[in-house]
Amino acid sequence: MQLINYFTAAAALAVAALATPLPNHDTDNSTLVGPETGHLVVVGGALQSEAIWQRIIALAGGPSAPIVVVPTAGGEPSYDSSFPSAATLRSLGAQNVTVLHTYDPGVADTDAFVAPLLRARGVFFAGGRQWRLVDAYAGTKAEAAFRGVLGRGGVVAGSSAGASILGSFLARGDTASNTVLVGDHTVGFGYLRNTAVDQHVLARNRHFDMFEITRAYPGLLGLAVDEDTALVVRGDEAEVVGSTYALVYDGGFWSREGSWERELPGPGERFYFLREGDRYDLGKRRVIEPSGMGGGEEE
Ligand SMILES: *[C@@H]1O[C@H](CO)[C@@H](O)[C@H](O)[C@H]1NC(C)=O
Ligand SMILES: *[C@@H]1O[C@H](CO)[C@@H](O)[C@H](O)[C@H]1NC(C)=O
Repeated sequence: MQLINYFTAAAALAVAALATPLPNHDTDNSTLVGPETGHLVVVGGALQSEAIWQRIIALAGGPSAPIVVVPTAGGEPSYDSSFPSAATLRSLGAQNVTVLHTYDPGVADTDAFVAPLLRARGVFFAGGRQWRLVDAYAGTKAEAAFRGVLGRGGVVAGSSAGASILGSFLARGDTASNTVLVGDHTVGFGYLRNTAVDQHVLARNRHFDMFEITRAYPGLLGLAVDEDTALVVRGDEAEVVGSTYALVYDGGFWSREGSWERELPGPGERFYFLREGDRYDLGKRRVIEPSGMGGGEEE
């Protein structure tokens, strides 16, 4: 009994501690959720589809656009220019791909380190553990330069850990385990304001995990992207690209078959799926209705 009380009290304290406001990265006073200029490509891990890679290259400005690949989330002792994501981009026609890496924020804060980023039109954050990106780059010239790529109209893309880092709330940021949703690192790079991004969602049966985050931070928009699928974001519009689904946790529910009476959980714990071609308004938090929709399509 005493043990139970102890843990209940500890849990209550933990929740109280978590309810403190998160720092935000707004420097431009924008009211948009996504970037005002440039694009994000938010990939749910296991990126295979040539269509998604080609979208990243196209949004950077085409095959000659300089693209910087950041492997740091991976945690390997070192990296070279043959890193797989860089090799894939080159094999698909990208002619100017640089691999940029350090674990040392002192290095990430130097002009020499950020030089390739100042000319880049694209950045790709590869997978691993998202906290490593925070420890290496948060608050450095490199972090400012990543954001600068968007400011110049380029693309910032990421897969798996590289997707979660794009949100303002860092989902699964715990250094001990990727099963801890609200961990010891909670602040992402924030290109998506007031938003948490999860990945590998259907492939790993993670579809209920987002509620751990939205319970602690009820105002957040939750986006969870499945493997080999992406959300392409500009301003307040997110479009699904790829073979499976993106899940939206906005307290609402949507179905392409229209709405009718059905039993749903409370607004705090609803989500719904968007598939290839579906578009979502991040600011209004509702689906942009496909044209010509209406009436049930029989399966
Ligand atoms: C954002 O708003 C603050 C406070 O109103 C103002 O001081 C600052 O100059 C604004 N920044 C930009 C980039 O407009
Ligand atoms: C890659 O892009 C940078 C920045 O525009 C440029 O300085 C460099 O010459 C390019 N390299 C190649 C091989 O095209």
